[in-house]
Amino acid sequence: MADDQDTTPILDALAQYASSGSISFGVPGHKSGRGATADIKRVVGAEAFSADATTQKGIDDRRETQQIIQRAEALAAHAWGADYAHLSTNGTSLSNHAAFLSVAAPGETVLVGRNAHKSVIAGLIMAGLRPVFLEPDQDEDWDIEHGIPLAEMERKLAAHPEARGAFLVSPTFFGVVPNLPALAKACHNYGKPLVVDEAWGPHLYFHPEMPTAAIRSGADMALGSIHKMMAGLQGSSIMLLKSGLIQPDRFALCYDLFESTSPPVQVLASIDATRRQFALEGEALLGALLGRARRARQAFAEIPGIKVMGREILDGDARHGLEETKVTLDIADLGITGYEADDWLTENVNLSMGLSDDRHLLACFTIGNDDQATDALIAGIRALATWAGSRSARERRGRPPGMPRRCELRTVMELTPAEAFFGKVEHVPLAQAVGRVAAEMVTPYPPGIPRLVPGQLIDEAHVAFFRLGLQAGLFPLGTSDQSLKTVRVVA
Ligand SMILES: Cc1ncc(COP(=O)(O)O)c(C=O)c1O
Repeated sequence: MADDQDTTPILDALAQYASSGSISFGVPGHKSGRGATADIKRVVGAEAFSADATTQKGIDDRRETQQIIQRAEALAAHAWGADYAHLSTNGTSLSNHAAFLSVAAPGETVLVGRNAHKSVIAGLIMAGLRPVFLEPDQDEDWDIEHGIPLAEMERKLAAHPEARGAFLVSPTFFGVVPNLPALAKACHNYGKPLVVDEAWGPHLYFHPEMPTAAIRSGADMALGSIHKMMAGLQGSSIMLLKSGLIQPDRFALCYDLFESTSPPVQVLASIDATRRQFALEGEALLGALLGRARRARQAFAEIPGIKVMGREILDGDARHGLEETKVTLDIADLGITGYEADDWLTENVNLSMGLSDDRHLLACFTIGNDDQATDALIAGIRALATWAGSRSARERRGRPPGMPRRCELRTVMELTPAEAFFGKVEHVPLAQAVGRVAAEMVTPYPPGIPRLVPGQLIDEAHVAFFRLGLQAGLFPLGTSDQSLKTVRVVA
């Protein structure tokens, strides 16, 4: 059964439900869209409602005897080479929360890559864990953090025998993969599981030229967003387990702690359909995609003032592999920030980028970008460079002078994230926060890596980074004061 990769149990059951004409006196209350307004049906499609089924007495019977979701999960586990899989509908954010509790209990210690996404820090807060941060490799040329160096992992494993496991991101937002087989081996030598936030990498399993994926590298658990680099609906995520160190029943129960009792089945069906798509055609689709991304890389590299992050950065350790469909550009030499470039591209050529910051632009090529879209991006970046070059010296301000680089933002923890977050707090002006302990995350989005986490000592570099970053166009997601005039600190 697990080999029937051309079957889609959830999608098929949903199609059957949608055409069944069932008269429901249960939920959802819109009753296949009959109660919903015409405008919402026009915008999202009437099918979004007719396919909005429950799991019990929707895609399955009252006692779920057809095991529709379980069958889809078994197919997914097989496709990704794991022993167990769970399909999640609240993104890899939820998957990260569940992952922590599968490994550690409140009060326990975990090793965590400092370049983690904000959902990982949220998981630390909710689970009441004590993080020991693993410092990522700092690429000072690119002002970007890559993976966790093996020596850093070994040092922290040796110094913290109490740690329950290690959590790191791979690929990074910028598409860099560390030496996962070596990192997994190091963790296993200490009897600790390695959990990988693979939000940007569930497609890596389906093409031989992609960097090595987490489960294949010996990681115990991997969490991947099906909606980012694959083709699922937003919110779709997969949790994979292949481990002798994490109990499958605890993994299942921790997933259940977080998943809604009324999951959007359209999202589940989209994971099912995407799994079939990649299991059957992934290699061909990704091969064509790699061709398009490489063509664009070459074209960008020929534009004066633009640098393209390529395989020359690789070092076999924290920068072991590069996912080439993530194309990172350094545009500092154009005399504009990435934020200005992003806005110009949106307003003038209707292009939307995957990330911009004070110095970078990033394009995520996926199987949804065809040759025409690739040509539009190449033309758009050329036009951007021409526009930037035509500006007067006075207009070309670029990255704010004095804005600290990421490697200057130190992490000194005074309290655990939960102690700081749930303790007595006050709000102080950002400028007066130096020497205080943060009681919230402050996260430039994207890439969503909190530069301050609850419990962290705030220093001059953090304050300058945010003050100058905000002037340049930085967007801090999820702060108590979106303008960052004030920041929440421990009282
Ligand atoms: C590294 C990383 N992990 C987790 C997430 C959260 O994923 P999701 O949006 O699927 O909840 C993101 C989102 O950008 C991310 O970049």
